[in-house]
Amino acid sequence: MTATGAAVPGAAQASPGGTLLVEELTDRVVVTLHRPTARNAINAAMVRDLHQVCATLEERPRLLILTGHGGTFAAGADIAELRERGRDQALQGINSRLFDRIARLPMPTLAAVDGYALGGGAELAYACDLRLASPSAVFGNPEPGLGILAAAGACWRLRELLGASVAKQVLLAGRRLAADDAFRLGLVAEVVPAEQLLARAHTLLDRMARSGPLALRLTKLVADASGAHPVTDDLAQAILFESDDKRARMDAFLAGERS
Ligand code: COA
Repeated sequence: MTATGAAVPGAAQASPGGTLLVEELTDRVVVTLHRPTARNAINAAMVRDLHQVCATLEERPRLLILTGHGGTFAAGADIAELRERGRDQALQGINSRLFDRIARLPMPTLAAVDGYALGGGAELAYACDLRLASPSAVFGNPEPGLGILAAAGACWRLRELLGASVAKQVLLAGRRLAADDAFRLGLVAEVVPAEQLLARAHTLLDRMARSGPLALRLTKLVADASGAHPVTDDLAQAILFESDDKRARMDAFLAGERS
């Protein structure tokens, strides 16, 4: 892995569903949520597009920057779609499974938040490993005001990030965390002017990119481990994957030898 992600120019490509701009660099991917007519609200097409990004990063692990187009991170799940969803869609965990997948990406992720990160937009930022904010950033979970709960991670990630007291102020009392509050509470690493937000995000990733990639990956895995599994499994497998015995046995199988 190089530490030159920001210096390697890459053209941002529109995602298949047209909801993202995706810039693939040597050691990182920069994803811009891009639904300008809906304040980057997360609809089904964006969920599909973000799953595709996850698949790419699972296949070839790299750092990730998530940001939003046009002075908004994301104004939540798409309310027009939410309006039509019923129990079965809720049980599918459409956003919660996506955000869990993002949280479990092999390499560190960073949300660069300019403007509103509300509802599912906030939950997407909470699912990232690090957050940077511009002075206009606002985090909030207004879901109960729409008659629903923040079911894509806020109810437990926010408690982990900020503690139960502040989490309940946000979840139950509709408290919105402006950039300075978010910084003071530790939700964001820094507040930087909007025009410097991406450059600062790249600088943070440059720092991470200088670490051993495997060390970074295992550190993230262990830091997020809530219990013995699956970390012990993964660590054991990582050791075994490097063993001569594994290579010999698999070579033998592929050569047609069956015991
Ligand atoms: N889902 C679908 N569309 C959304 C949306 C959402 N979550 N948030 C904003 N939009 C749409 C608006 O309907 C509007 O569409 P229109 O131009 O066709 O009328 C457009 O995006 C611009 O939104 P608008 O409210 O006019 O922008 P604003 O700058 O005045 O306010 C917000 C920005 C983010 C404060 C406001 O849009 C808002 O409160 N959005 C909903 C936030 C929310 O409750 N999220 C939780 C969802 S679970």
